[in-house]
Amino acid sequence: MLRKPNDDNPQSIAGFIGTSPAMQDVYAMTHRVAASTASVLLVGETGTGKELIARAIHELSQRGSGPFVRVNCGALSESLLESELFGHVRGSFTGAVANRAGRFEAAHTGTIFLDEINSTTPKLQVKLLRVLQEREFERVGDTETIQVDTRVIAASNRELLDEVAKETFREDLYYRLNVVPIYLPPLRGRRTDIPLLVNHFLETYCRDNARDKMTIHSSAMEALTRHHWPGNVRELQNVIERCVIMSDSDELTLKLLPPAFRGEQSAVAMPGRGGDLDSLARDLVEQGMASAPDGDVNLFDRVVSRVERELIAQMLAACDGVQLKAAAKLGINRNTLRKKLLEHGLDESTEE
Ligand SMILES: Nc1ncnc2c1ncn2[C@@H]1O[C@H](COP(=O)(O)OP(=O)(O)OP(=O)(O)O)[C@@H](O)[C@H]1O
Ligand SMILES: [Mg+2]
Repeated sequence: MLRKPNDDNPQSIAGFIGTSPAMQDVYAMTHRVAASTASVLLVGETGTGKELIARAIHELSQRGSGPFVRVNCGALSESLLESELFGHVRGSFTGAVANRAGRFEAAHTGTIFLDEINSTTPKLQVKLLRVLQEREFERVGDTETIQVDTRVIAASNRELLDEVAKETFREDLYYRLNVVPIYLPPLRGRRTDIPLLVNHFLETYCRDNARDKMTIHSSAMEALTRHHWPGNVRELQNVIERCVIMSDSDELTLKLLPPAFRGEQSAVAMPGRGGDLDSLARDLVEQGMASAPDGDVNLFDRVVSRVERELIAQMLAACDGVQLKAAAKLGINRNTLRKKLLEHGLDESTEE
């Protein structure tokens, strides 16, 4: 996606949907860091837009006309990743039949995006630290030192400080990368953006599928807004695409959503600000404080039961209603899950 050079409104970034304060912070940070040469660490759950931000930083920067090179550090073994990043010389290992430049060299004058940086091994972390500090390295099996001028953007779907504490990630590398951290908020932490994203993807997929623009029924929008979205924007995008493909009518109704959304809708059709467990528990405690006289022996059971129902409904939603998967994720056996689904009246919204 090419950006215009005057795309400098700090309140927005071309290609990004969302006006929540949390996203505005992200846009402002992105514009600010794009103008610098600092290393950037992007942290956020899966599907929150880390790669999209990495590309935006590159395109908004002075290096925008240079190469953008993405390397998924989680997809390759240590030795393959080492050769991918730094290149190798002929004969340096079995199969190295010719000299080969690595991705750092390919990213010269541009940006290298190290995705899933948390997956790198200690040996590679040492080499990465040197590139970040000295801007130099050697190809595998070579003695000649190569200088590179590239900006490093790294992404992690885990809090890297936890990995530092567990000693699986080098502290010095962490601080080198973390010059400017940008946190991509999960969708459930910025629910006001959900209707905007839903309408955006509805429009996009109607256009892509050459069909008339669809509208959405308010109950469907409500269910989408309440969903937990463990897969964040990517998950939402997929749900809307599926609805557009499956729909015979011009209105997206609740019936069209995956089964788990319907169960979830009833699961949260109770007083509460939303589907989050913490706000649900808070609401229930407030209700208990307001209405129950001291010594209400049922309060604990009532609250736990509602939280349990919410947890199960959300996990089922995340697993597309597949019981076996939800039970495994919850760490309970399938029969226990079935019993609880019956108890909570959630049994109709699932698949075996
Ligand atoms: N704010 C947003 N507005 C519009 N589309 C978005 C937004 N955030 C993410 N997307 C879209 O959601 C999808 C996932 O985004 P992206 O690949 O950048 O996520 P990610 O954080 O890198 O995920 P992962 O950790 O799984 O690699 C992409 O199709 C992207 O275009
Ligand atoms: Mg990604």
